[in-house]
Amino acid sequence: IPVDSFDFVLFGATGDLARRKILPSLFHRFQIGQFDDSSRIIGASRSKMDQGEFQTLVSDALTEFGGIPADAQPDVDRFLALLDYASVDAKGDGGWSDLGAKLRDGVVRAFYLSVAPSLFGAIAGQLKSTGIADDDSRIVVEKPFGHDLASAQALNAALREHFEENQIYRIDHYLGKETVQNLMALRFANSLFEPQWNSHHIDHVQITVSESISVAGRGEYYDKSGAMRDMVQNHLMQLLCLTAMEPPSTFEPNAVRNEKLKVIESLEATPMDNIVRGQYRAKAGDDSYRDHAGDPASRTESFVAMKVEVANWRWAGTPFYLRTGKCLRERVSEIAVYFRKPPHNIFGEDNAIDGNMLVIRLQPDEGITLKTTIKDPGPGGMRLTSADLDMTFADSLPEAGRPQDAYERLIMDVIRGNQTLFMRGDEVEAAWTWADPIIGAWDNSTRVPQPYDQGGSGPEDALLLLHRDGRRWRPIG
Ligand code: BG6
Repeated sequence: IPVDSFDFVLFGATGDLARRKILPSLFHRFQIGQFDDSSRIIGASRSKMDQGEFQTLVSDALTEFGGIPADAQPDVDRFLALLDYASVDAKGDGGWSDLGAKLRDGVVRAFYLSVAPSLFGAIAGQLKSTGIADDDSRIVVEKPFGHDLASAQALNAALREHFEENQIYRIDHYLGKETVQNLMALRFANSLFEPQWNSHHIDHVQITVSESISVAGRGEYYDKSGAMRDMVQNHLMQLLCLTAMEPPSTFEPNAVRNEKLKVIESLEATPMDNIVRGQYRAKAGDDSYRDHAGDPASRTESFVAMKVEVANWRWAGTPFYLRTGKCLRERVSEIAVYFRKPPHNIFGEDNAIDGNMLVIRLQPDEGITLKTTIKDPGPGGMRLTSADLDMTFADSLPEAGRPQDAYERLIMDVIRGNQTLFMRGDEVEAAWTWADPIIGAWDNSTRVPQPYDQGGSGPEDALLLLHRDGRRWRPIG
């Protein structure tokens, strides 16, 4: 569905995220026809550059990161014609009137801040005081949204001084992933699952976001953050919320976000012996985490596994196990819902029955698998075996074509003014309220994260976390 004509101002337009994700995503939506030549994209950053130089930068970014076939050059040329550039000093007065002069009346104005959070307040203030942004404009901000509760509150305050909450779009790109939204469709558009979606029928849930990449090249940033701040407080927390939340009464942004907030507020304080921290060690030919971080004594975690309890009527007694880490065997993101076994096995001791398992695969091969128990085909009598009902989206829905990047959907939602897939300020603060005591306890502890081998499934203690409950992690890859 085409969106209204817009002026999209991209602060930090020469940065890594802009070139890798934001600009290619805009191009793909343009190419598909979701917006046309009546919209404009205006790069803004401190660098002095003219329109032609910015067009060259974007053209290079599309070649490098866009995955664009050679025959798409005419579309690329039309896209480049939408671009303009303004050199703006975020903290001073320079360049703002020039930027303002490039914007048109009567179209949606979106301001995307792909810049350090320390600049959010200054830019928001300039946009408002110069009159460049009005009550209809949208402002988009990226993570990290704070590094603890106090800093997140400060960022919220800085933004809200100039913009209303319904104008602020806090991106968590995990919410834009296709299968994450399918989780909501699966739960709330099918009557099969929802009656079972509680502790009576679900034994436990495993949420895994495993990455094979290291932190090489971004060690300096990562070392101040660690897996808890970089992944758990935001991405894994959002996955947990969507899995555990009550059905909202409508798919309206605030109805959905109210339910997600309630999940975060229901989380019990996590005891420290339910949490495992890991740090990858060196392997032949490959540096260790500490080498990548540039700190031989770093205690920052590159892996976290934890057992989380959602203390409410629906989930009491059903733990959620979360894990994420770098340098693991494979890149796999999934939510695995383990159903309880049938209450009685009529097939005898030789025919053990596992419970059903529903796996929602976010990446790499997006899809949904339901593990079932069936009769082993053939003449061998009544013997049971397990079989998967598998729906891999690329195979089942080939007409869907090229998978959409999360940013494509999220940016178009900004233009449409739909905040459903964006974090509200109170959600972010609640997630920090939960995470802060854990990070604080680590800071005050003399213990170091447990080393783990690169290319494996994380530290030994992460396995024990489930073993002691009589459970096992799903293998990574
Ligand atoms: C980012 C983190 O938010 O998400 C990175 O800062 C991480 O450390 C990335 O690699 C993972 O995103 P995706 O979409 O590749 O799973």
